[in-house]
Amino acid sequence: MNAIELCSVSAAYGPYRALDAVSLAVPDGAVVGLVGPNGAGKSTVARVCAGLVAPSAGQLLVGGEDLTGAPPWRIARAGVASVPEGRGVFARMTVAENLELSFGRWLGRGAVPEAIERTYARFPMLAERRRQRAGTLSGGQQRLLSLAKVLGDAPRIVVADELSLGLAPAAVDDVYGQLAALHDEGTALLVIEQQTDRVLSLADRAVVLDRGTVVYDGAPEGAGPQLARVLGVATG
Ligand SMILES: Nc1ncnc2c1ncn2[C@@H]1O[C@H](COP(=O)(O)OP(=O)(O)OP(=O)(O)O)[C@@H](O)[C@H]1O
Ligand SMILES: [Mg+2]
Repeated sequence: MNAIELCSVSAAYGPYRALDAVSLAVPDGAVVGLVGPNGAGKSTVARVCAGLVAPSAGQLLVGGEDLTGAPPWRIARAGVASVPEGRGVFARMTVAENLELSFGRWLGRGAVPEAIERTYARFPMLAERRRQRAGTLSGGQQRLLSLAKVLGDAPRIVVADELSLGLAPAAVDDVYGQLAALHDEGTALLVIEQQTDRVLSLADRAVVLDRGTVVYDGAPEGAGPQLARVLGVATG
């Protein structure tokens, strides 16, 4: 079964067509890397997966269920956890308050304490800093908090949009360590990155997007040369 599948999805911002008949699938438990140059439409794919942008054509399937046009909460409840671009934390709230707010919203109040305990077991760094304001965490720690916030309920798939962007190498290691741990637990991953090395070593499959269309879908090894081609870089 596919955790998530886009079937010939088009999407637009007003008159601007950002995605043109994009098809891609992430099987349960698999890791798919989605790469492509600036403006290719990667984040638009992430927004379609989260229900933040409705397809103008095509279908969004979650675990085989047609959720095209469904609101974000329904898609989240079907098991899609989306980490948006950027840091995605409330800077003036503590780590614990960020988690409580997010889990309360997605899981309901009763499930919050247990979800927080699971989060602290998974991210000891957040447990140590639970009373610290999120805005005082390092960039990498804030990214991990934004990931932790969407993991309350053992999701079927995590969609992560440029989680490692702008982080120091050690922080990138931490982020990829968490993604690898999720993969080991059987969670499917759609990992969106501009930096390809890390994602392509974790991925089972890679999709290259360019100007709103899929130009490659296959083994990760083939994605680098394809990406270089769309970037206009000569390959050796
Ligand atoms: N809210 C919006 N309104 C209008 N156009 C948008 C909006 N968001 C994105 N676009 C346009 O849609 C296209 C795809 O954008 P998208 O953010 O999906 O690309 P991306 O691959 O994530 O790029 P980046 O690598 O810069 O994050 C771009 O041309 C962008 O300018
Ligand atoms: Mg983007």
